[in-house]
Amino acid sequence: GRVAVLMGGCSAEREVSLRSGKAVLGALLSKGIDAVAVDAGSPNFVPQLQAGAFDCAFNIVHGRGGEDGVLQGLLDYLDIPVTGSGVLGSALAMDKQRAKHVWQGLGLPTPDFNMLASEQDLESAAQRIGFPMMLKPVHEGSSIGMARVEKPEALERAWREADKYDHNVMAERWVSGEEYTTAIVGDVVLPLIRLETPREFYDYEAKYQSDSTQYHCPCGLPASRELELQQLSQRAFDAVGASGWGRVDLFLDEDEAPWLIEVNTVPGMTDHSLVPMAAKQHGWDMEELVWRILETALD
Ligand code: DAL
Ligand code: MG
Repeated sequence: GRVAVLMGGCSAEREVSLRSGKAVLGALLSKGIDAVAVDAGSPNFVPQLQAGAFDCAFNIVHGRGGEDGVLQGLLDYLDIPVTGSGVLGSALAMDKQRAKHVWQGLGLPTPDFNMLASEQDLESAAQRIGFPMMLKPVHEGSSIGMARVEKPEALERAWREADKYDHNVMAERWVSGEEYTTAIVGDVVLPLIRLETPREFYDYEAKYQSDSTQYHCPCGLPASRELELQQLSQRAFDAVGASGWGRVDLFLDEDEAPWLIEVNTVPGMTDHSLVPMAAKQHGWDMEELVWRILETALD
């Protein structure tokens, strides 16, 4: 069959997606699969999809329009099977506020948070959440618009920056401890990765531009503990209705208690990205990994 590799799109993560897309396309082609790149940000994207006689699509469009249910709905409508989560799981995972509501409802641990609808909310949020806190646009990815805020004086400026990307801004309690991520592909929960950055947090630069981030995989936890966290990650993933493949980000605090941060339903696949790294540790090369992800379109 013929595979459309959907990439690019119109979100703030367009450049990241083009890098992910290139890596995915290369791996599919080297496996002998008939795959073509399709830019979801092109004005004739929809006619291109309709004219392409595609048997399925590999979606690697990050962020709004690609990862939030919009593209999933379109492909459903066009009757083209696509990798990853459906409309509901995509939309819910993209919304950090509502994903946390779902986890809280199920008793899954996630750091306390407050929504900042306007400047008036900053003071009460600061009182409730305390410092340091993370400010996040609710519907962004790759840490775009995010800041770690250490003190009250820095709050307003950070809020203005986050508000540029999304009028829904969240203040989230900072978890002091270690950062981990869990990749899920089909029925397989991959080994955890522990991330260590000398920067204030794992921001855009640490993710894609700097070589200073250290990635530990195996992550160094005892096997039984890692298994518990893999199970927690799977529950968090299922809870938001995600399916197929994705990546769950979490922290372990200083008492080693886990805190769920978010689910990414179209995680990065660049040469700096985490899912390929975990897959490698599991014994899958990039070709095997993209093949496994492609299979999720056909389930
Ligand atoms: N949002 C980026 C692409 C990630 O989660 O890897
Ligand atoms: Mg994300």
